[in-house]
Parts: sequence; structure tokens; C-alpha cells
Amino acid sequence: MTDSITNQSVALDLGEVDARFGSIGEWIASQGLSNGDLMAVLHRTQAEFGYLDRGALGFVARALRLPLSRVYGVASFYHNFRLTPHGRHEIIVCTGTACHIAGATRLLEEAHCRAVGLKSVTVGSTRCLGPCGAAPVVVADGELLGGQTAESVSEIVARARHES
Ligand code: FES
Repeated sequence: MTDSITNQSVALDLGEVDARFGSIGEWIASQGLSNGDLMAVLHRTQAEFGYLDRGALGFVARALRLPLSRVYGVASFYHNFRLTPHGRHEIIVCTGTACHIAGATRLLEEAHCRAVGLKSVTVGSTRCLGPCGAAPVVVADGELLGGQTAESVSEIVARARHES
């Protein structure tokens, strides 16, 4: 049981670690991180590589002496972790309650549909972003846009495609 493994200090044999993860391994060792620090290690690894591929998840599992299934389970559960590379443009549709009622599902479908086959555009969703009065809300490359429609989302994707 992983729960029986608590607060063990990490002793990494960096010689056996994929060279990509050397700096992360050194950071884990220098901070004395253990399997209770899984979230922090996943955040740091993603910050370094942009997303968490199978190799990265395997490294984290080994470094923290956790089952890969547990590391994958955490990484895939939280919206903040990405398991695939992101495109240059990111379009996030808020699917919180107010946005859902205002048609977010349709916007998300439109964005996914328009972005099919575009490696430069990543479409995602998130829970309430805060400005519910402006629902439905979309974040396009970090810019928060309220009162969106399927047509405006289609234009956002078209612009992103054009700029790629
Ligand atoms: S539900 Fe979308 S901003 Fe609150």
C-alpha cells in the first residue's frame, strides 16, 4: 500500500535517470521531498517540460517511490496538469454553472470542432473563472472574453489558425 510509505526521504540514483530529468531529480533530492510531495513534484516537472508525458510520469513515480497508476491518477484528475503538449494557442471555455446555463457546452463543441487537426491550438475547459455575470466566458491566449457565442469562438479559432 502506498499509504504505508510515508515521508521517506528520496534517494535518487541520478545515474540511472533519463538525462531529461536530471535537474528535477537534483531538486527533489536537495529539498528532501518524499511521496507526500507528489503535487509539488508534478507542478515542477510540468513547469520544466510544458506537460507530463509517460516518461515524466514514470520518472516522478520512481523518484517518489509511488505506483505509476497513482501518479497518473493524480495527474489526470487535476485540470492544471497536461498529459499532452499544448499548442501555441490555448482556448479555454468556462463550464461553470453560469456559463453552462449560458451555452458553454455549445461553445466547447464549436471550439473542439474548429480546432480538429490543428496542432497549434489547444482547446480545454475549466470550472468557474469568477466573472459569471459575463457568461459564457472564454479565455483565449490568456485574454478573458465574456458574452461569447459559437460564432465568436469559431472566429477565435480561425484567428489562431491564421497566426500559426
Ligand atoms: S461559471 Fe463561468 S465565469 Fe463563473
